[in-house]
Amino acid sequence: MSLTAIVLAAGEGTRMKSRHPKVAHKLMDRPLVWWPVHAAREAGADRIIVVVGNHADEVKAVFAGDADVEFVEQTERLGTGHAMMCVRDALGDFHGPTVVLYGDTPLMRAETIKNLVEHTKGGHYACTVLTMSPADPTGYGRIKRDAEGNVLVIIEHKDCTPEEQATLTECNSGIYCFCGRRLSENIDKIGNNNAQGEYYLTDMVGIYREIGEPVSALLAADDSELLGVNSRVQLAQVTKIMQERINNQLMAEGVTMLDPAQVWVGPEVTVGRDTELLPMTMLWGKTAIGGDCVIGPNTRLTNVTVGDGSSVEETVGYDTVIDRDVTVGPRAYLRPGTHLCDRAHVGTHVEIKNSTIGEGSKVPHLSYIGDTSMGSGVNIGAGSITCNYDGVNKHRTTIGNDVFVGSDTMMVAPVSIGDGALVGASSCITSDVPADALALERSDQQVIEGYAKVRRERLHKEK
Ligand code: UD1
Ligand code: MG
Repeated sequence: MSLTAIVLAAGEGTRMKSRHPKVAHKLMDRPLVWWPVHAAREAGADRIIVVVGNHADEVKAVFAGDADVEFVEQTERLGTGHAMMCVRDALGDFHGPTVVLYGDTPLMRAETIKNLVEHTKGGHYACTVLTMSPADPTGYGRIKRDAEGNVLVIIEHKDCTPEEQATLTECNSGIYCFCGRRLSENIDKIGNNNAQGEYYLTDMVGIYREIGEPVSALLAADDSELLGVNSRVQLAQVTKIMQERINNQLMAEGVTMLDPAQVWVGPEVTVGRDTELLPMTMLWGKTAIGGDCVIGPNTRLTNVTVGDGSSVEETVGYDTVIDRDVTVGPRAYLRPGTHLCDRAHVGTHVEIKNSTIGEGSKVPHLSYIGDTSMGSGVNIGAGSITCNYDGVNKHRTTIGNDVFVGSDTMMVAPVSIGDGALVGASSCITSDVPADALALERSDQQVIEGYAKVRRERLHKEK
């Protein structure tokens, strides 16, 4: 199916009280405008056009690298009809079913878009308007139907008579599906003779009625999908709804949550069966969690893959791969390029960057491991550090299999430690250690019998 989606996102969003465009504000880890674009994609749109105006560059940056998103700039904001005329002028005629979405209405489901398109195609309508019946219709355009229930016209709130304001309670959601060809042929008929002096896209309904083209209105199954964000309070409300929607879906699929109100899972995250998500956990980006894992509490993972049976406690991680039956935390920091192989353990106050920790290897306490390849069965003693940075360049540390590194060891890269080697505690390793060798770098210990007692007694006397 060829489907075009147009996302209107040129508005100012003054009520956000922000230096940034409204649609760039984040709902979870994604800007508002990302959500309708994603829904359009899921609904099968093969052409997505975002109309930008205010802070156009910041809005465009949201889709950097997305080949399927095009932009049209609306330099003057003369209304929703004008925004669509700008698209037509910039890109040529509309083709096939053309859906109009808003950049500040992020809860719209792909399913709803699909239904709207099917309904429009099925009835050969020139336009279908998605409508709703909110408890308070103030501000919305009102749907006027004739005695048979056919849609006659949409009247903006400000253009309604007081009687119409009181009696017409079915409202325009602002979401439509148009037949592209008929929209191209007729969009120039929109004028701006109304209370706001704007070109209203809603006028298309009345225009089609007059020329005998069939129009239809579809009442949305779930009004909450049409909630728009105009303020930060509404942004928080919409976030809550999306959080619930995603968490309910995950729980239905077999994920346990001690308190779903304290778990945030982004739209492109997957979580396997029998995994438990504990409070204050955020899973963002393309994170993929396996089954039988325990994640959290107090954990934020962004683009992290976690294999089955692993636990990640009180941890922040980015761009990391964690294999199966790995234990991480509490309080670990996993930075980009980290790979923790099966049964590895990364413990408390440990930071790992751009490093592989081999199968069953352990970095249990207070360590920094950067730019390191570590084999299997290694034990890194508490407080050990790979010194990977000389102030200008980064260097690698290579640690073989079954190496035992004593506590408080500095490994000054570039350096390598061979299989089965032993490094004595508190050593500063600056040259390579061969396999099966002992490396020790520390001064000899002195012992002076009885000295502590003599000193203690002298200090007490002086007091
Ligand atoms: C619009 C509808 C109204 C509907 C309501 C639902 C019109 C004339 N009215 O009113 O019937 O009930 O939405 O929320 O369409 N935009 C542009 N360029 C413009 C003007 C707007 O891109 O020149 C974008 C805005 O960024 C926003 C969307 O279009 O995403 C809607 O604009 P807005 O000004 O909020 O329209 P409403 O007055 O709310
Ligand atoms: Mg609005």
